[in-house]
Amino acid sequence: MALPEGFIAEIKDRNDITDVASSYMNLKRRGRNMVGLCPFHSEKTPSFNIYTENGSFYCFGCGVGGDVITFIMKIENLDYIDAVKLLAQRCGLNMPEDSYDDSMSALRKRIYEANREAARFFYKSLYSPQGRKGLDYFHGRALSDRTIRHFGLGYADENPYTLCNHLEALGFKKSEIVAANLAFQRDNGNIFDRFRDRVMFPIIDLKGNVIAFGGRIMTDQKPKYLNTSDTPVFKKSANLFSLNNAKNSGVKSLILCEGYMDVIAVNQAGFQNAVATLGTALTQEQALLMKRYADEVIICYDSDEAGQKATARAIELLRNAGLLIKVITIPDGKDPDEFLRNRGAEGHDAFLNVIERSGNDLEYRLQKLRRSYDISQTDGKVAYLNEAVKILASIDNSIEQDIYISKLSKETEVSTDAVKQQMNKYKKRKRYSDKKTEFRNIRQNLSGRNDKLNPERYKKPRSTVAEESLIAYMINHPDKLGYISSRIDEGKIQTEFNRKLYVYFSERIKNGYDPLSSVSGDFTQEETAGIYRIVNSDFARMATEETLRENIEVINEEYAKLKTADAANATYDEIAEMLRMLRDSHK
Ligand code: CTP
Ligand code: MN
Repeated sequence: MALPEGFIAEIKDRNDITDVASSYMNLKRRGRNMVGLCPFHSEKTPSFNIYTENGSFYCFGCGVGGDVITFIMKIENLDYIDAVKLLAQRCGLNMPEDSYDDSMSALRKRIYEANREAARFFYKSLYSPQGRKGLDYFHGRALSDRTIRHFGLGYADENPYTLCNHLEALGFKKSEIVAANLAFQRDNGNIFDRFRDRVMFPIIDLKGNVIAFGGRIMTDQKPKYLNTSDTPVFKKSANLFSLNNAKNSGVKSLILCEGYMDVIAVNQAGFQNAVATLGTALTQEQALLMKRYADEVIICYDSDEAGQKATARAIELLRNAGLLIKVITIPDGKDPDEFLRNRGAEGHDAFLNVIERSGNDLEYRLQKLRRSYDISQTDGKVAYLNEAVKILASIDNSIEQDIYISKLSKETEVSTDAVKQQMNKYKKRKRYSDKKTEFRNIRQNLSGRNDKLNPERYKKPRSTVAEESLIAYMINHPDKLGYISSRIDEGKIQTEFNRKLYVYFSERIKNGYDPLSSVSGDFTQEETAGIYRIVNSDFARMATEETLRENIEVINEEYAKLKTADAANATYDEIAEMLRMLRDSHK
C-alpha cells in the first residue's frame, strides 16, 4: 500500500486519535491514557485504551488495536485507502495522486454505480408492461406508489440477461457486474442475472449508496427471498435495512422488525424509524450500530416460535449494547405488515397504541415465564419465583429490580424481603461469574494465549516473551537498533511472526522512518492489533537497558539450546560453531 511515508505521518499528526475517537464514543482520562467502553464489543467496564504518546489504541477485552487509521477502518467499515481518504478530508489534506494502489477503491466505486443503475432499472421496469405483475403484487400488499418510490422498490424480469445487457451497454465490465453480485458467471465466461422474476428491495447505506438487494419471489416457491451475498461494499452482518431513513426520523428509538415488508408497512403508517436485519439473525455489530443512532429499540418480531427465539436473542444483544428495550406483541399473532394492511389511515394510531401498550424487555420475559407455571401450587410458585429472580439478577438497574420485586411479591404473596434475598444470592453468583469471565478474557488477550498470530508461543514461551520485549524496546527506542543488531540477528528470532516483525522494524529504523507509522497499512488488522498489544504492554513500558540486555541473553541462550538439541546430527564444523555460541551466550 504505497502511500508516501510523509503523507501518512502528516495524516496521523493532524488527526489526533483521541479527537477522532471522541466523536464516536465517550472517553475519560486515566493517567496518561484515555479509556472508554469499547465500541467494538459489548462491555460494562471500560477495557478500551487510547495511548496518547504513540497515537494508538488497544482493547484488553476483545483484543482489537491499532492506530487512528485502524480505528476508522473498523468503526466506519472501510478499507485502508478509504479510511485514509476520510481522515485526509477531515483535516483538509488532498490525497497524493497516483502514488498508491487504488484498485480496490475503484472497484468499490464501480459496484456502487452498478447497484445504483440496477436500482433505477428495476424501478423503471416496475412501471413498464413487463413489470405489471410486480406492481400489482406491491399494490396487492397495500403499498402506495409514494411508498414504492420512497424505497425505490422494483422488479427484475424473467429474462436472465436483461440487467446484464443493460449494464454492459452502459459500459460496466462483466467482472464488475459479477463483483456486485448482480450476475453469475458461467464457465464459458458469459454472465446472467442473479435476480429473475422477483420484486426488488434495494438496501441503502447511511451515505445513500445502494449496497445490495433483496428480491422476493411472488409465488410460494422457495427461496422466498434472495439477498446479495457479501461483496466489497456489503457485509450483511454489519448493515440494517432502512437505517438510512431511520437515522433521519428525529426520534432516538428504532423499531426492529423481522422483514423488509414489515419495515416498509410500518414506514407507510408514519413511523420512519423502523429497521430490519438482512436475512440473518441480529448480530452484536448491528446492536452496536443501533446504539450509535438510538437510545431505545422496540423489538417487533413475529409471535411464532422462531420470532420468540429471535426476540430472546435480540434482548440479550441489545441489553449488552446498553440500549433500552421494549417488546411489542401484536394482537392475534400477526406480523406488523399484516396488522397494518387494510387499516389504511387508522394504521398509525393503531400501531402507536400497540407500541404504547408494549412492556419493556423485563416485563416481556417475566410474562413469558409466568405463563409456564401454575402459581396456585406451592411447587409452581417456588419454581416461578426462582426463575424470575434469576432474570432480575441479570440486569444492572437496581430501580428496575426494586419495582419488579414488589410486583413479584404481590403476585405470589411472598414477602419482598424473601424475594430480594433470593435475588441477591443470584446477583452475587452472577457478579462472580461475570468477573471471572472478564478476567479470563483479559488475561487471554494480555498473555496472547490462543495466539493465532504466533502459534509457536506454546512451544517456545521463553523465547517468545523475550522477542516481544526486544521488539517493543526497539520500536520505543529506535536509536538502540545498532546496539541490538550487533548482538542479535534475525536468524536467532525463533518464532516466525516475531521474526517478521524484527525484520520489518529494523528495516524501517535503518531507513530513518518512524517505526510505527505505516503498520496499519503494511499488516492485516489482526497483525496490527498484535503489534499494538506488544508495544503498549506493561513489559514494554517498563523496559530498561537492563531488561534489554537480559532479553538479548535469553534469545541467545534459547537459540543455543535449540542448536545443542540438534548436535546429535551435526557435522564437526556445526558443532564447533555451536560451542562457540554456547560460550558466547554465557560470557
Ligand atoms: N429472509 C431471507 N431469506 C428467506 C426468507 C426470509 O432473507 N428465504 C429474510 C428477509 O429479510 C425477510 C425476513 O427474513 O424480510 C423475514 O422473513 P419472513 O417473515 O418469511 O418474510 P416477510 O418479510 O414477512 O415477507 P412477506 O411478508 O413478503 O412474506
Ligand atoms: Mn410478512
